[in-house]
Amino acid sequence: MKIIETVDAFRDVRRRTPDPLGLVPTMGYLHDGHLALVRRARAENASVAASIFVNPTQFAPTEDLATYPRDMEGDLEKLEREGVDLVLAPNADEMYPSGFDTFVDVGDVANRLEGAHRPGHFRGVATVVCKLLTIVRPDRAYFGQKDAQQSMVIRRLSADLNLGAEIVVVPTVRDADGLALSSRNAYVKPDQRDAALTLSHSLNLARRMYDDGVRDAEKIRSQMRELIAVVPGANLDYVSIADADTLAELDDIDRPALVSLAVNVGSVRLIDNTLLP
Ligand code: PAF
Repeated sequence: MKIIETVDAFRDVRRRTPDPLGLVPTMGYLHDGHLALVRRARAENASVAASIFVNPTQFAPTEDLATYPRDMEGDLEKLEREGVDLVLAPNADEMYPSGFDTFVDVGDVANRLEGAHRPGHFRGVATVVCKLLTIVRPDRAYFGQKDAQQSMVIRRLSADLNLGAEIVVVPTVRDADGLALSSRNAYVKPDQRDAALTLSHSLNLARRMYDDGVRDAEKIRSQMRELIAVVPGANLDYVSIADADTLAELDDIDRPALVSLAVNVGSVRLIDNTLLP
């Protein structure tokens, strides 16, 4: 496995790397959810690259960039074990050299949900993913369903700017109790576990209500809010039931819908989602 820290060196190695190439972009602190992306990429491509870069432009000044968990050594061991060929691990100056002043703004799909609650977040994600796809030139790039809106934003980005990568979305990996794997779970204390589980519990409730024939979206949203409100330490940011293509909020669930939510557990902000039907 080659570990490469600069764009020029990566481009040079890339020219000699067999196609098709699958890219797994990450911010490190890898868990089984990331490894599911790597395994899928390994199964579908002749070569696999992963990137490890905690992207400063997708964090607001009030967010957790400084404390975002990091473990470069452990990450490299995991990637090596999964048979990754190339790792791009640049520093912030390599990705954003002095004078950097170009950003990518995706439209509507980036302005709702997470986009509305974290202004500038998807501008940072789209900018760094655009750079990664341009540097790595993968045939396929792999993202997790847990960040459903991110995957939609990146699909739009790749199509609109002809970046040439197929965007593959891989199902969410969960702990046995249902908590969706996330690097941020490292900061959920054992006594906050019940609060963290309100995400998957409320999504399960939404699914049960849907399966029982409820199609009134507000009725489901309000039951989800109630479930979360009674659990100490779980502070709801938003709950949404939206058109799975446009992310516009629905009154009636009369088409494929994305049920998603964000909950603050202490200082940790967690997100999760499920698709209906
Ligand atoms: O999902 C992530 O880890 C990040 O948002 C990504 C796609 C690697 C961009 O920094």
